Amino acid sequence: MKRRKLVAGNWKMNMAPSEAKSYASKYPRLLKRDMEVNIIIFPQSILLPILIDEFKNSGIKLGSQNCHWELQGAFTGETSPQTLKQLGIEYCLVGHSERRHTFGETNVQTGMKVRTLHQLGMTPIICVGETVGERERGQTEDILRTQIDSALKDADPKKTIIVAYEPVWAIGTGRVATPDIAQKAHAVLREYLKQRGLQNTTILYGGSVKPDNVATLVSCPDIDGFLVGGASLEPEEFANICLLTLNASR
Ligand code: 13P
Repeated sequence: MKRRKLVAGNWKMNMAPSEAKSYASKYPRLLKRDMEVNIIIFPQSILLPILIDEFKNSGIKLGSQNCHWELQGAFTGETSPQTLKQLGIEYCLVGHSERRHTFGETNVQTGMKVRTLHQLGMTPIICVGETVGERERGQTEDILRTQIDSALKDADPKKTIIVAYEPVWAIGTGRVATPDIAQKAHAVLREYLKQRGLQNTTILYGGSVKPDNVATLVSCPDIDGFLVGGASLEPEEFANICLLTLNASR
């Protein structure tokens, strides 16, 4: 089965409501309507209700950057996955490196979020990746396997997951993984997912993706698209990444 390409933009904690609206009004015009690439934008959750209307009929989906593993309750400051579902949101990032390393999200918590999202019929985008120290100590494969194992511990095998390989040392640093490094990590992930019957899982690369490094990365056999941070904040730049991903052959 041919895996469909996917480009996701993670806006992180950026964009005022007015900027987000202006972005949404430009964006669909920058793309061909019949593009064979799926596009998902992950804004701050507070912007989701505004953007749902703005992106309506654009073909672009919206996702949440995070959620709690419980449906609702006394969890001050958290985002309820049930509320996301009621808003019509289908996708949610889990285990993003900034959640893991700045906010202490654990592998166990990532697994609980996947379980809850599957219960709600939503699709988790499971972010995995090693730190520079782990890579230097030759632990990359072990780290990726452990992160996948925990994320899938209570996942529903019949439901969809998406995986994003985001080496921590490449996020926001301008230091993109070489195609060789990225492909090797993606192949490890593909093989590991295959052992679970999930060989057709979409696996994205993330970490300093820019229009000038997309073409070589997407030509790698196991890279199905991108999770873009900084470069997704400029509509022209992000549209360019989407077009280059679509046009690349492999
Ligand atoms: P940058 O593209 O800014 O490196 O961020 C990557 C990322 O964290 C996407 O989730």
